[in-house]
Formats: sequence, C-alpha cells, structure tokens
Amino acid sequence: MAGIEGKIVAITGASSGIGEATALLLAERGAAVVLGARRTDRLERLAARIIAAGGYVSTQQTDVTRPQDLQRLVDRAVVDHGRLDVLISNAGISKIGPVDALDVGGWSAMIDVNLRGVLHGIAAALPVFRRQGHGHLVTTVSTSGLKIVPNQAVYAATKNAVRTLLEGLRQESTDGVVRTTSVSPGYVRTELADSIDDEAVRAQIRRGMDEFAIPPDAVARAIAFAIEQPVDIEIGDITIRPTVQN
Ligand SMILES: NC(=O)c1ccc[n+]([C@@H]2O[C@H](COP(=O)([O-])OP(=O)(O)OC[C@H]3O[C@@H](n4cnc5c(N)ncnc54)[C@H](OP(=O)(O)O)[C@@H]3O)[C@@H](O)[C@H]2O)c1
Repeated sequence: MAGIEGKIVAITGASSGIGEATALLLAERGAAVVLGARRTDRLERLAARIIAAGGYVSTQQTDVTRPQDLQRLVDRAVVDHGRLDVLISNAGISKIGPVDALDVGGWSAMIDVNLRGVLHGIAAALPVFRRQGHGHLVTTVSTSGLKIVPNQAVYAATKNAVRTLLEGLRQESTDGVVRTTSVSPGYVRTELADSIDDEAVRAQIRRGMDEFAIPPDAVARAIAFAIEQPVDIEIGDITIRPTVQN
C-alpha cells in the first residue's frame, strides 16, 4: 500500500500550524483525515474547508495528556473509516526559557504534552496496527534536539526523548508491521510561540519566525513524503529547516 490516496490518517495538534497544514495537504491528496486537538471550533472550521474541497474528514476533541482521548481518536478512525494507517503525533507546546528560571510547571507541561502525549498515541494505535498487520507512526520532533541551544534545554529533552522512543520502537518492529518516522523542523511560522510564558524569549522566537521561518506546508510535504513510500521503505528521520537557520 503505497501513496497517500485512500490512507486513513489521524493527526494530533491538527487545529493549527503544522498539523493543520498536514491535514489539508493529505486530504487534498486523497487521504481521509481524522483531526484531533482541544479547540474543536478550529477543528470544525478546518473540517468544513476539507469537505468543501471534496475531502474526507472526521474530528475528535483530543487532549493528548489524557490517554483516553487518544483512544477515542483512534477509535474514531476505526469506526468511521474501518482502520488507521497512520498516526501523526504532532501536538506540542514550547514553554522554553533558561533552566535557572526553575519553571517546574512548564517543564511538567512539556513532558505531559510532548512526551506523554506521544506515548498515549502509541498505546492507542499500536494494538490497531498489530491487528491490521500494518501502521505508521509519525512524530514532529525538532532541530532543538539536534543543535542544543540556550533556553531550550527541557523542550529539546522532551523532543529527544521522543526521538529515542521511536528508534527503540523501530528496533522492536523489524517484522515489517510498524513504520516510524521522526520529522525535525527548524523555525516554522506557526502559533507555537504563543505557548512561551517568558516574554523576552517569546519575543525572540517571534522575531525568528517573522524573519526567516518556513511555512508549515513545507513540513507537511516532508510528512507526506514519508507516508507515501512503499510499505517496505521506512523514512526514519527528516530534518527540514530554513536554509539560513544557524
Ligand atoms: N513551529 C516551529 O518552529 C516548530 C519547530 C520544531 C518543532 N515544532 C513542533 O511541531 C509541532 C506542531 O507545532 P506548531 O509549530 O504547528 O505549533 P502550533 O501552531 O502552536 O500548533 C500546536 C498544536 O498542538 C496542539 N496542542 C497543544 N497542546 C495540546 C494538548 N494538550 N492536546 C492536544 N493538542 C494540543 C494545539 O491544539 P489545541 O490548542 O487546539 O489543543 C495545536 O493544534 C509541535 O510538536 C512543535 O513542538 C514546531
């Protein structure tokens, strides 16, 4: 089963940014998309756009910190479309700042969304993938985990934890049933900076986004490239950043 057309793809963090762009691109290319996020008004508006363009879409309110919400998202795909081919664990928050600020609450929130959220997706999707005999897990990690920079230590740690998790899962899944892909974007023009509480750091990230960030559909195309490969080909890691990002 190669290509995008006819695939059933669930996406967390589909209400904005990279998740929204990925939903639009995959639906345009013939996938049925199952959209998860907390803001259902945004999901419904996106679903209406996809339907108006002739696409197939379902929505499911999803808070990735709640395992039962991921179960409902996966169930929505199976009930509405008969199976789940791909789960894109994309939801993420960025409560960045210096470690010295001791933002224990922000650290926990990032671990809950960026790491636990992915684990909850795996817990919900893996049994379905094993039952079907195929499935593909895609996650949005970050170049923050590749080039470690000040203010992003804990955020990068959550992203690298996910990178490690997927490599471990890959090694446990060489029977050909489960494919894993980690996509590492650099600066992408999205709403991610809104989740930064530290005003100075938020302003700095927004400046970077305004000056040289790439649009989210560039990341969507990278995700589509991984998904469309023939089933015996696994794209493990993709790094995609602005050419001028240092
Ligand atoms: N933008 C960048 O420069 C960049 C670079 C590298 C990696 N990334 C990663 O890319 C991913 C997507 O971020 P983005 O840049 O597209 O930012 P964004 O526009 O802020 O989108 C983040 C998405 O995550 C969702 N989300 C946040 N907390 C959630 C929760 N508890 N449960 C479910 N969904 C939740 C949000 O939806 P709701 O608020 O509606 O729930 C939203 O749809 C993130 O994992 C981020 O870390 C972004």
